Amino acid sequence: MPDERSTTPDLRTDRPTPARMYDYYLGGKDNFAVDRDAAEQVLSAAPEVRILARENRAFLGRAVRYLAAEAGIRQFIDIGTGLPTQGNVHEVAQAVDPSTRVVYVDNDPIVRAHAHALLPADGTTAVIEADMRDPGPILDHPDLHRLIDFDEPVAVLFMSVLHFIADEEDPYGLVAAFRDRSVPGSHLALSHITSPEQNTDGATAAADVYKARATSPAVLRTPKEIGSLFDGYELVDPGLVFLPQWRPDTPAAAANADSVWMLCAVGRR
Ligand SMILES: C[S@@+](CC[C@H](N)C(=O)[O-])C[C@H]1O[C@@H](n2cnc3c(N)ncnc32)[C@H](O)[C@@H]1O
Repeated sequence: MPDERSTTPDLRTDRPTPARMYDYYLGGKDNFAVDRDAAEQVLSAAPEVRILARENRAFLGRAVRYLAAEAGIRQFIDIGTGLPTQGNVHEVAQAVDPSTRVVYVDNDPIVRAHAHALLPADGTTAVIEADMRDPGPILDHPDLHRLIDFDEPVAVLFMSVLHFIADEEDPYGLVAAFRDRSVPGSHLALSHITSPEQNTDGATAAADVYKARATSPAVLRTPKEIGSLFDGYELVDPGLVFLPQWRPDTPAAAANADSVWMLCAVGRR
C-alpha cells in the first residue's frame, strides 16, 4: 500500500506562513490558529496592515487590467500567488481576453492545493509549487513552457512577495533572471513594503513578527532599493508610488496614500 504521508503536502501548521497570514488579513478562512495568532500580533503593532493587504489586492487588479487591456499582454507569470481570493490574476486578465495564459508560482503547498480546486479546466492556467529563490527550475518547468512563449511579451508579477527575500538571497538577481528571458514589450509589476516616514515603529514591529515567528522574514526596503528592482525596465506612469496612487479608479481613492507603506510600479522592457 502506498504511504499516504509521503503524498500529503507538509502544510507546516506549527509555524505561521506569509500566505495564510495574508489570507487572514483579507478576511479569508484558509488559515490556522498559529497564523491567526501571529497575524493578530502584527495587527496590534500595525493595524493598517489590513488596509495594506486590501490596497495591494486593488493595485494587483488595476495593474493586471492595465497590462491586459492597455499593454496588450496575453501571458502572465504570477510569482508568490497567495491563496485564491477575489479578483485572481486569470479572472481579471481573461475578462479582457479569455485565451490569456496565466502561470501561478508559490512555495506554500496550501496555495497549490487550493489553486487546483479553483483553476479553470480549459488549460489556460497552471500552478507550479516552487521557490522563487531558485528561478532556474521555474523557468525550465514544463507547465510554464506549455503556456508561456518567451518569444512574445510576457508580464511577470511579484506582488507583495519580494520583501520575503533577504538581501543575501539576491532579490535583484531573481527578478533579472525573468527579465533576461523576456522580449522587449514585456512588463514587470511589483509591490513591496517600505519604511514609512511616519509610523516607522509599526512597520518595524510588524516586520519583526515575521522575523521571529513566520517561515519567512519580511524586509522593509527604501524607495531607491525598490526602484532598482526595475533595472532594464522603463516605468510607466505614474512611476513608483504608494499603492493607492497607482492609476486610482477615482482621485479620492488616492487620499492619505502615504499611510499605506507599500510601494508599487509597473515597468516595460
Ligand atoms: C503576501 S502574499 C501575496 C499574494 C499575492 N501575490 C498578492 O499580492 O495578493 C505572499 C506570497 O508569496 C509567497 N512566497 C513567499 N516566499 C516565497 C518564495 N520564496 N517562493 C515562492 N513564493 C513565495 C507566499 O507563500 C505567499 O503566498
